[in-house]
Amino acid sequence: MAAQIGVTGLAVMGANLARNLARNGYTVALHNRTKARTDALIEKHCDEGEFIPTESLEELVGALERPRRVLVMVKAGAPVDAVIEDLVPLLEPDDIIIDAGNSLFTDTRRREAALAEKGLHFVGVGVSGGEEGALNGPSIMPGGSKQSYESLGPMLEKISAHVDGVPCCAWIGTDGAGHFVKMVHNGIEYADMQVIGEAHDLLRSAAGIEPAEQSKIFAEWNKGELSSFLIEIAAEVLGHVDAKTGKPFIDVVVDSAGQKGTGRWTVISALELGLPTSGIAESVFARALSSQHAQREEAQTTLVGNEIPTELPDNFVEDVRQALYASKLVSYAQGLDMLVAAAKEYDWELNLAEIASLWRAGCIIRAELLKDITAAYQNERPANLLFAPAFASAIADAVPAWRRVVATAVQLGIPVPVFSSSLAYYDGLRRDRLPAALTQGLRDLFGAHTYNRVDVDGTFHTLWGEDKSEVQQD
Ligand code: 6PG
Repeated sequence: MAAQIGVTGLAVMGANLARNLARNGYTVALHNRTKARTDALIEKHCDEGEFIPTESLEELVGALERPRRVLVMVKAGAPVDAVIEDLVPLLEPDDIIIDAGNSLFTDTRRREAALAEKGLHFVGVGVSGGEEGALNGPSIMPGGSKQSYESLGPMLEKISAHVDGVPCCAWIGTDGAGHFVKMVHNGIEYADMQVIGEAHDLLRSAAGIEPAEQSKIFAEWNKGELSSFLIEIAAEVLGHVDAKTGKPFIDVVVDSAGQKGTGRWTVISALELGLPTSGIAESVFARALSSQHAQREEAQTTLVGNEIPTELPDNFVEDVRQALYASKLVSYAQGLDMLVAAAKEYDWELNLAEIASLWRAGCIIRAELLKDITAAYQNERPANLLFAPAFASAIADAVPAWRRVVATAVQLGIPVPVFSSSLAYYDGLRRDRLPAALTQGLRDLFGAHTYNRVDVDGTFHTLWGEDKSEVQQD
């Protein structure tokens, strides 16, 4: 029997996706550069479904029904191009190459355009949920042509997570749209984790609450509006005790956060689109700062804090919870704003309600909140998530606590880059006049960059070096 899909690249994510497909009744042809991985998968999991092990890409392609579907699950970057190069001569028009790794969306756009010229479909698919999700039901964000989705969509929908019978998988848009949305998902994931970290630091450094106790607080928070996968696992990690030392696990882990690139890409893309994606950016910078070991060490003896002793507000723990929630809302708002801008820039028709809906389960940022975000985009279609009545009022309720927490953190010298920058974004948005008018004045003085007036249409320049009279430029 011919296989309905082939998977090449059988490290954990590829192997788990292959097993998920087989468990859902698809016959899956398998290939890996080193045969040992293929053998191991067959040895351990052959009873989960129909697998066809192969030893070369030729054999893999030969095992597939047409149009062929080949899922590539190798490291993002050059390895993806290398596999494509090897596959192309083996394929025929209408065959589909699927890249389910965390590829940069501009690479996906390039690859899609190049393969379309050869009559092949290239589909960049965002897959979230880690190893466990890949096996049991991830959130899936496929891009590529609509035509390719007709062939591929039913399979992806079947293996995805479901909420009330609805798959967490839907066609996102052409070329790199799926990878773009996955990238923004990861940017939000970075911010989500950073606000959890800031809350944890405040609870410990300001309020002296030890990790074991914090674990209970996070578990409690997980029952309310913060309910989400990341809050749930934060409770688990904070409650974990290191077997070797008997210390809280987090106290034996080096405090430098790694990053593979998707958060950084989100920020680069936000800068290119000209968007104030500050919460996500600060979370990427916070990881970068955490990794500056030498400078951090020198700063401990060189730089002075001069903290201002401060009484903690009553109900500090609840204040922190509200600050976390408000900052989290801002990160979602900024991430979703990127989708709106990218849709215009790259000519995609992104459906924000659908995207929020397919993040409700399977993925790392899955959260109760996403139900309300989905509803907001279905009903009110706000220009900014924070303008949806439910969120405008939720954030209004949280603002006093948010201000108290940021003020306390600043006085005590505890860095809260996402809590504070998100509040600055919120206040910046609300403010009737921003100091950008002065920026314009300065730009005009030193570089004749011109400005607009509040009272008359047109572009103006002041003759700063002469009699300071104003001239209209158009
Ligand atoms: C997911 C995750 C996944 C990966 C992160 C880790 O949605 O399943 O986002 O894709 O674990 O990209 O990223 P960092 O190593 O950059 O934190």
